[in-house]
Amino acid sequence: MPWALIESVTENDALLELYGKDGMFMIRANGLELMNGFCHESETALGQYAAQLAPSRKPRVLVGGLGLGYTIAALIEAVGAVGTITVAELSGAVIDWFHRYVKSSALLERCTDLRIVHADVMQLLAADDRYDVIVLDIDNGPEPLVTASNAALYSPAGLRKLYASLSENGIALLWSGFESTTFAAHAEEAGFAVTCEPFERSRADLYHYIYVLAKSPDRGESHPKTKN
Ligand SMILES: C[S@@+](CC[C@H](N)C(=O)[O-])C[C@H]1O[C@@H](n2cnc3c(N)ncnc32)[C@H](O)[C@@H]1O
Repeated sequence: MPWALIESVTENDALLELYGKDGMFMIRANGLELMNGFCHESETALGQYAAQLAPSRKPRVLVGGLGLGYTIAALIEAVGAVGTITVAELSGAVIDWFHRYVKSSALLERCTDLRIVHADVMQLLAADDRYDVIVLDIDNGPEPLVTASNAALYSPAGLRKLYASLSENGIALLWSGFESTTFAAHAEEAGFAVTCEPFERSRADLYHYIYVLAKSPDRGESHPKTKN
């Protein structure tokens, strides 16, 4: 059965489309797949891994990029009853579709303190010591794809801002479709201990990666391997 178009909107010159098939959803931006409900293992692993690495039992978590909500579902599952989760999503349509079509209310109710805000995640990186965990899944990796302005986040200045927004033992995780030595070097210059964990998906030809940026040097090593 082919995907059926549910809704489409043009936002900031980008055509966003929501498709559905067999109870699953897919979002495309300008014809490119942004998120597909049939392939969410690494997005789920990202949320699980973030919860596992959280330096506090009641972590303050910032998530950049709502998409179809698989990462936040995994986070809510792990820390929802005690943690604070703020989700910044650039697209008003993605938030609207999430609330109207995608979300599981039962799951969201398990989070005592969840905020989904319509904002560029960069705007929430202003304050010092604000988050214990920052999870970024806004692009195909540390190169801007969705919007050119995301380049600022991966720049040395953006990475210093990310560093400053974390608590003392805070940790940032970035989903990526590729490895980037330039990004790793910039993150190290900003003060982070950097590791890159490969994640093998069910399709053997597709690798995804999770960059772990640790504020404290002690936390940059010996992470357990990402699991499905
Ligand atoms: C690949 S999807 C995220 C998938 C998500 N992890 C999941 O589990 O479904 C990327 C999302 O990031 C959003 N986005 C892109 N740039 C952003 C930014 N600067 N701030 C916040 N959200 C952003 C996109 O609109 C899109 O919804």
